[in-house]
Amino acid sequence: AVQQPVPLPSEPFLVIAHRGASAYAPAHTFPSYELAIEMGAHYIELDLHRTKDGKLVVLHNDSIELNGHEVEIDEISSDVLSAFKPAEEFNQPTNEYASQKFASLRVPSLEQVLREFGDQTNYYIEIKSPDRYPGIERQLIDQLSDHHLLDRDDPLPKVIIQSFSSDSLKEVHALSPGTPLIQLYSFKKKAKLSPAKLKKVSRYASGIGVNASVVTEHLVNTVHESGLAIHPFTVNEIEQLSSLISMGIDGVFTDKPDLIITSLNQH
Ligand code: G3P
Ligand code: CA
Repeated sequence: AVQQPVPLPSEPFLVIAHRGASAYAPAHTFPSYELAIEMGAHYIELDLHRTKDGKLVVLHNDSIELNGHEVEIDEISSDVLSAFKPAEEFNQPTNEYASQKFASLRVPSLEQVLREFGDQTNYYIEIKSPDRYPGIERQLIDQLSDHHLLDRDDPLPKVIIQSFSSDSLKEVHALSPGTPLIQLYSFKKKAKLSPAKLKKVSRYASGIGVNASVVTEHLVNTVHESGLAIHPFTVNEIEQLSSLISMGIDGVFTDKPDLIITSLNQH
């Protein structure tokens, strides 16, 4: 029989630094993660892809623009990817946090992130587009295991894995039943999540992540009644945070961990 998922602790309210403290530094770069950790976020969020030569790399999109061409991550080698400068999008003249000090940053590999931050933080890792990357689940679990990050709660789980793909999460659950998983959803107007549906999710996942705009008190209660936690994304405004907290959510993804933590401390 497949093991039941581990429940996430109900305390503390989780602050998940979305792509790092990505309001203040380019997403998925060391400065963005460093800031998030300094600010006191419980987790740094990583979006995962895989290059043609099989390296797990941390960036948001399936593709990047290189020399005027859009290229898919799974069609380029990690060497080619290393020419890409993630700060270019961030360093716009209108961005008050733009800085030349970011200009030389490169897309980190998962290995580099784990080596750099080790035990200093916890990792909330999204498997993006798993259909494009056969075997990514095993590869990720093996890499996390090499770093002794699995099956460790001190006091929070060192690693949480998230995906929009239920197949990918079920695969991870089979490989590493002690790792808490988050099923992601995005809805335009209304969340279509029945108790029956959530019950099925609770067989492999410990919680759901969903776009904040569709979260209601009713949804939060239904999710909790299925034994799942709920982490809305992406919350960067105090008013929205307060309203979601009053509905009973368990944590948030945010680009501004400092703002969220200051506000939580005032509650
Ligand atoms: O992983 C939760 C949230 O980050 C999903 O949206 O596009 O920011 O990865 P995205
Ligand atoms: Ca994500």
